[in-house]
Amino acid sequence: MDNASDQWTKELQELILAEDRKIFSPRVIDNYLKPRNLKEISDPHGVSVITGPCGDTMYIGLKIDKDRIVEIGFLTDGCGPTVACGSVLSQLALGKTITEAAALNQETLLIALGGLPESHLHCAKLAVDTLHQALKNCENQGGESNAKG
Ligand code: FES
Repeated sequence: MDNASDQWTKELQELILAEDRKIFSPRVIDNYLKPRNLKEISDPHGVSVITGPCGDTMYIGLKIDKDRIVEIGFLTDGCGPTVACGSVLSQLALGKTITEAAALNQETLLIALGGLPESHLHCAKLAVDTLHQALKNCENQGGESNAKG
């Protein structure tokens, strides 16, 4: 790319970001620009992949040690707010026991995110549903008890 098109791209990105800042909270913007725990987990104790009603998919993988989430990763092909939901939810869940993480719900995630517009509430539900299923799969696979050592 030449300098003129570099500059044009930069200006366009800033314009889009300025519009997003009118709609989304600073925490949502920060987490979709710099997602935490955006990774696949190798040899997970629990994993889940769910496609929401909008057609977007989320993956969550977990590693458990002594009943606690010691590693968590998410991936998604969804929108920016979905990336922010996976990122913030992964930070909320990391270090929690399986029972504590299972108690995280759409409302707790929305509060942590600083809210989402009505049209994106389902992004938070997709993230929470995917986490809950990954936790269930941990227990079904005996990951919890195996990981207790
Ligand atoms: Fe589908 Fe965000 S728009 S999960």
